[in-house]
This record gives sequence, structure tokens and C-alpha cells, in this order.
Amino acid sequence: MNFVFCSSSELDITDSASCTTVFEKHQPDFCINAAAYTAVDKAENEPEKAHAINVTGAQNVAAVCKIHDTVLLHVSTDFVFDGEKTSPYTEEDRSNPTGVYGQTKLDGEKEVAAVWEKHFIVRTSWVYSQFGNNFMKTMLRLASERDTLSVVNDQIGTPTHAVDLAEVILKIIESGKKAYGIYHFSNEGQCSWYDFAQKIFEVNAVSIQVNPIPSTCYPTPAKRPKYSVLDKTKIKEVFGLDIKKWEQSLEPFPSVV
Ligand SMILES: NC(=O)c1ccc[n+]([C@@H]2O[C@H](COP(=O)([O-])OP(=O)(O)OC[C@H]3O[C@@H](n4cnc5c(N)ncnc54)[C@H](OP(=O)(O)O)[C@@H]3O)[C@@H](O)[C@H]2O)c1
Repeated sequence: MNFVFCSSSELDITDSASCTTVFEKHQPDFCINAAAYTAVDKAENEPEKAHAINVTGAQNVAAVCKIHDTVLLHVSTDFVFDGEKTSPYTEEDRSNPTGVYGQTKLDGEKEVAAVWEKHFIVRTSWVYSQFGNNFMKTMLRLASERDTLSVVNDQIGTPTHAVDLAEVILKIIESGKKAYGIYHFSNEGQCSWYDFAQKIFEVNAVSIQVNPIPSTCYPTPAKRPKYSVLDKTKIKEVFGLDIKKWEQSLEPFPSVV
């Protein structure tokens, strides 16, 4: 497999001409669209920008994939759900986003499905890795600056190691299966952000006092789903996956940042 990785300056998904140029040059068999507007709180004040990237951008990518007969793997989010359920969300459950980010991601999914049949939409949750900005890196940075931390314990979800997500996307490609549609993927199990923080510190041998707090003590512009555990039965059955528990995927970071 040959990979071409495109930064936003090389391929601006809001610009269909940019998509065309890149696709004409590389003629990809598969396209993994992980580009998105992901600033959940900022999106409340920038709905047009979030829409341009998450909806128009997704539509542009799907359209160029259709022209080149390229299978599209589009990454989406647990934030398409309102969090009112108390058991894991299946692909058939009703979506009802609680904020602009989730709404634009949902609208982007609909564009992808409407424009190009050969698509896999992979909804995931609480993604972390050693790269970029994410909860794990924020916790480790804050721990190097403070003696105590307060973390919400009434939002329940499942962390996803980006490496596990990447492997699953590659497995979908390698399977050659044409079982297009929406799939849920995260690591196995569930926890609160507080539990996740505790485990991050344990695995990285960081000594810090962590206090559990309710979301009401940590108000944010965008409302988060209080429960967004994803049911992975479909992806496991269709692609024969054995998914690691979130605690098993958590490894010490190469360095505390
Ligand atoms: N992180 C999570 O917890 C989480 C959870 C569920 C789902 N997801 C989904 O996973 C995917 C990846 O998220 P992430 O956490 O990796 O987000 P991220 O760190 O914010 O990365 C998003 C990427 O999109 C690029 N991008 C933004 N606008 C673009 C444009 N117009 N054209 C091309 N690229 C553009 C950004 O490039 P620049 O930096 O150059 O702007 C950035 O590299 C997204 O679809 C997100 O909705 C993430």
C-alpha cells in the first residue's frame, strides 16, 4: 500500500478545486478523511466555519471520490448522539447532537451517504495519541504544572487509542469488503473523564491528587453528551475484530509533555 498524507495547506477540503487537483495527481483507490473542524466549544460561535469544513468539506471529498471511484473512509463522532441513553449506542440509534460540532458532523455524514455509495463512516470517541492536542496530553501537561486537578465524573464514554483506530481503518480497506455504511469504533469498556485521567496518571507513574467533579462545576459553551458509549457489535462482526479494552491500549507516553 502506498500512502499520500495531505496537510490542510496541500488539500483544503472546503475547496473542491483543491480536492480535484490532489485526486488527479494521485488517483487514490481509498481516501481516509480525518480532516474536520473539531473545536467543540469554539464551534458554538463559528457555526459557518464548522459547517464549511464538516459539511461542505465532507461533501467535496465524497464528490471527488465518486468521480475517481475512490472508496471513502470518513471519520465521525459519538457527538452525533445526545447522551440520553444508558446503554451503548448502535448505528441504528437516533442521532440528536447537542451542539454545533456534533450537528455539523452529522450533516457531513448525511452528505457523504447522499453523494457517494462507496463509503464507510466510522464514528469514534475520545481519541488520544502522543500527537496533536488531546485529553491525555492535556492531563499530563496540567499534572506537570499543578498539585491537584478536578475532572468531571458524570460524562461517560470510551477512550480510543488513535493507533487502534488507524489499524481498524486499514483492516476495513484490506478486507476488500463492500459492506458500506456507518460503523461504530472505540476501544472496549467505558469510563468517566475522571476515571480516564486517573488511569493516565497511573500508567505514566504521575503522582497527583485528582478530584471528581460534576459537569455543572465545569461549564462549557457546548453541551456534551453525558453518555456516549458506542456499541461495536456491527464492526466486530463484519470485519472480525477483536478490540482491546481501553485500559489495555493505554501506554506510557514516550515523554511527559
Ligand atoms: N479527537 C477526538 O476525540 C475525536 C472523537 C471522535 C471523532 N473524532 C473525529 O476524528 C477526526 C480527526 O479528529 P482529530 O481529533 O484528529 O482532530 P484535529 O486534531 O483537530 O485534526 C483535524 C485535522 O483536520 C485538518 N483540517 C481542518 N480544516 C481542514 C480543511 N479545510 N482541509 C483539510 N484539512 C483540514 C486540520 O489541519 P490543520 O491543523 O492544518 O488545520 C487537522 O489536521 C475528525 O473527523 C473528528 O471529528 C475525533
